[in-house]
Amino acid sequence: MKKILVAVTGASAMLYLQSFLEMLEKEEVLVHGICSEAGTKVLELEHDSDFSNLPAVSKWFDCRDFAAPPASGSAGYDAMVVIPCSMGTLGAIASGITSNLIHRAADVMLKENKKLILVTRETPLNRTHIKNMLAVHDAGAVICPPHPGFYLKPKTLEEAAMTFSWRLGDHLGLVMEGRKRWGSNE
Ligand SMILES: Cc1cc2nc3c(=O)[nH]c(=O)nc-3n(C[C@H](O)[C@H](O)[C@H](O)COP(=O)(O)O)c2cc1C
Repeated sequence: MKKILVAVTGASAMLYLQSFLEMLEKEEVLVHGICSEAGTKVLELEHDSDFSNLPAVSKWFDCRDFAAPPASGSAGYDAMVVIPCSMGTLGAIASGITSNLIHRAADVMLKENKKLILVTRETPLNRTHIKNMLAVHDAGAVICPPHPGFYLKPKTLEEAAMTFSWRLGDHLGLVMEGRKRWGSNE
């Protein structure tokens, strides 16, 4: 069974997090989570909920706990997805500064050559954001901003978010029953 680490940081677009976790809930995967302090706050503001109510995650680790399993390569996660990923967390990963468990876990994924996907969210982007994106891309991460596949004609915000979750699922090699694809009706 694949082991996926999901990290939540304090960027907007928590709708995408909810959608992604709902998708993971239907897959044969083990999901662990970490939520930053700002992530907790933004979840509360945007979603009126706290991370312990989110689906799919079987265990949450404290963001300050550097002794938790994600702090070591031996924990054996197959992939880590930072969703949403703030510019602050992007900068920390780009510079290798590991001041919380999310930064450390991302650093570990890169050093172990494991998949690290950053769902970066900010607009517009300044030069530092763009430089940091290039730095993490060069270090092996995938930058995957949350853009829905409008060509699949989603009718609600939730459907639009799911078209993006499917793209993440493709990167993670998931089965995703019912996943719509461009050209699949032809
Ligand atoms: C409602 C709200 C929305 C925010 N949206 C964003 C965002 O989209 N992108 C971003 O980089 N920061 C955003 N921020 C600011 C971050 O939460 C802040 O920079 C924080 O320090 C990030 O910390 P973290 O990366 O440890 O979660 C937002 C803050 C609030 C309160």
